[in-house]
Amino acid sequence: MTNPRMLSGDRPTGRLHLGHYVGSLANRRALQRSYESFFILADLHMLTTRNSRADIEAAGVNARHLVLDALSTGIEPALSVFYLQSAVPEVAEAALLLQSLVTVPRLQRIPSLRDMARASGKEEMPLGLLGYPVLQAADILSLKADAVPVGKDNAPHVEVAREVARRFNHLYGDTFPVPRLVSADVPTLIGTDGQAKMSKSLGNAIYLSDTPDQVRRKVAGMYTDPNRIRADVPGRVEGNPVFQYHDLFNADRGEVEELKARYRAGRVGDVEVKNRLAVAINAFLDPMRERRARFEAEDGLVERLIVQGTERTRAIVRQTVHEMRAAMGLNGIYPGYRGDAPVPA
Ligand code: TRP
Repeated sequence: MTNPRMLSGDRPTGRLHLGHYVGSLANRRALQRSYESFFILADLHMLTTRNSRADIEAAGVNARHLVLDALSTGIEPALSVFYLQSAVPEVAEAALLLQSLVTVPRLQRIPSLRDMARASGKEEMPLGLLGYPVLQAADILSLKADAVPVGKDNAPHVEVAREVARRFNHLYGDTFPVPRLVSADVPTLIGTDGQAKMSKSLGNAIYLSDTPDQVRRKVAGMYTDPNRIRADVPGRVEGNPVFQYHDLFNADRGEVEELKARYRAGRVGDVEVKNRLAVAINAFLDPMRERRARFEAEDGLVERLIVQGTERTRAIVRQTVHEMRAAMGLNGIYPGYRGDAPVPA
């Protein structure tokens, strides 16, 4: 028996931050020894909201950063397959074949899609964006992934993939495993500005690749308890991003409890709480900085991983699309002609 498979990944629109780490990278890293791991560089998904020539040109560099970000967290190159989605065109065929298994109202009810449309300044929903979860289902199912470790806002997409897998299996025969969502049991990470979510588009993120100095500056500017105008005013710990971060990233539990007690009692200033947080986050990121530097120094490593991973993925996706066509009966409609085989000259 081979290991079960896991698929995760991101759109190449920027670098990964602490929110990605707690939401999905930590899970991926923990699972990489028990799963065969695939990591998608989802540039076709990027096109659903960002499709200017400049966005597309930036995708190459961003994809490279995504790989380095992943490697920096301890995801091991020898255990992972990285691939560029647009270089596996068969995934588009898989998506097309799945499209008729989902209704438009089902997709219109997904809140993350409406949020994405709004965030990208679209007045009306682009067809591609409405189909985002179907394309994601095609990624997941064409690899026959068993587990999908993603952040909370991607959970509804995995749910669509599960429904589509069941529907396909029911209509055409058992073809896909029903993928399992692996989501972190931590709440979504608040942004440094106190907004509900850390997000690159909101400019409230601490990146895995930030320098110690960038971390210090971002933490110094963090939103805390707005009612606390002086250090001797009792402060609120609950819902305070500075303490959420202490809870998640400060390995010194004793220090965190002591700071909370003093904060509640009005016996510590925000500056001290933040200084200690910056130290803790930098200690948390230091091993990632070291790994990143090591992998960056290996000439051509990232490019090689992407090229080899994409070839490997493409072979699997081709095979699955062939199975899909066969299960649906599309390969036998014209005797002697199979659409997915090379046409004889
Ligand atoms: N939707 C993911 C994001 O928010 C990217 C993605 C595309 C993905 N296809 C996937 C994640 C398949 C997991 C599995 O960026």
